[in-house]
Amino acid sequence: MKILVTGGAGFIGKWVIDSLPSDTEIVIIDSLDPQVHKTSQNFAPELKARAVCIKDDVRNIETYRDIVEGTDIVIHLASQTGTGQSMYEVSKYVEHNANGTAKLLELISTLNHRPGRIILSSSRAIYGEGAYTDGQTVYYPKGRNLHDLKQDKWEVYSTRGEKLSVLPMRETQLPKPTSVYGLTKLWQEQLLQNYCESQNIDLAILRFQNVYGPKQELGNPYTGIIGIFTNAVVQGNTVELFEDGLMTRDFVFVKDVAEAVVKCAFYDKPLAATINIGSGKAVTLLELVQTLAQLTGKEAKVTVSGRFRVGDIRHAVADTNTFANIFGEWTPTPLKEGLAQYLDWYLTQSPVDKTAFELSLAEMEQKGLLISKHS
Ligand code: UD1
Repeated sequence: MKILVTGGAGFIGKWVIDSLPSDTEIVIIDSLDPQVHKTSQNFAPELKARAVCIKDDVRNIETYRDIVEGTDIVIHLASQTGTGQSMYEVSKYVEHNANGTAKLLELISTLNHRPGRIILSSSRAIYGEGAYTDGQTVYYPKGRNLHDLKQDKWEVYSTRGEKLSVLPMRETQLPKPTSVYGLTKLWQEQLLQNYCESQNIDLAILRFQNVYGPKQELGNPYTGIIGIFTNAVVQGNTVELFEDGLMTRDFVFVKDVAEAVVKCAFYDKPLAATINIGSGKAVTLLELVQTLAQLTGKEAKVTVSGRFRVGDIRHAVADTNTFANIFGEWTPTPLKEGLAQYLDWYLTQSPVDKTAFELSLAEMEQKGLLISKHS
């Protein structure tokens, strides 16, 4: 079996490569983007030993046609991933995520042996604000508006002004992304759906919730909050929680994610499915910081700033039944256990300077995308 992994040197990619059976032939294409790969823009020796590694942007993949020829499965992970950054570096997100996928499909069209399956790492960002209920009716809100947010109205309300309760995100929901990033992930899904149907290629779209775990780049200020919050807690700095700190996310451990990808790769029947990959548990950001503090034996220093990021959603949690229905069961790692493994790894890494993160916040503020109600 020959597998092409785009973005294979990234956080999730490294775990996927580790989880693939030893007799699979692997080709990786990864640009080793300096924003993500802070410390080294070379492939790690263990990746070089395991796979044929191409250092280039996926948009240039046609150059490597001969190396890619014979691929049976494509695992498409290459993407720009920062929700906040996508709101001002718009063309970068469109170029990389949409055009990158388009170039990959153009290359596939030229191959003598077409892959039988493509797996896409999509995102829960395509659901936008998701689904809410007042106990009777289900609503799919468009997103929160600036006027409400500036008045500390963080939750999602009905048109009658009642606070609504969030429902788990289901794959059948109508996509309604609230960020440019989310839009570009939706375009990737649609490009692949259209293409794979016409070419008779089996497609599995995996919509990841907030993935965390060892090997997640620490120096990248646009990466997920677990790294940012851990840096602050371990160094005794104050964590800034936006809004009122009570927004929720579904944190899913990277090993579970990699195992899900590999299960999809080797599933022996056509999948033709869109599948949520999350823990199925909603955790408030405040609870997350408290858990990190408890596990590290540090004090949880928190400022609930009331600032907010344009394009952010309020709550997210996955309905994970589709995965269980296909594969029999889904037993995600509990957050405390995953965080403990993450911290074991984190403490072996060099301390991270918080300047890059502070600069990224200043940049967002200057662009009007990180707002305080007094601004
Ligand atoms: C994340 C990923 C995205 C992925 C999605 C779903 C990143 C940058 N984004 O988006 O690629 O597709 O999950 O899997 O990894 N916040 C604070 N204080 C801070 C920074 C952030 O309170 O200093 C808040 C934000 O306002 C937001 C929450 O933390 O409410 C999560 O932010 P973030 O980690 O950037 O991720 P998502 O937007 O959820």
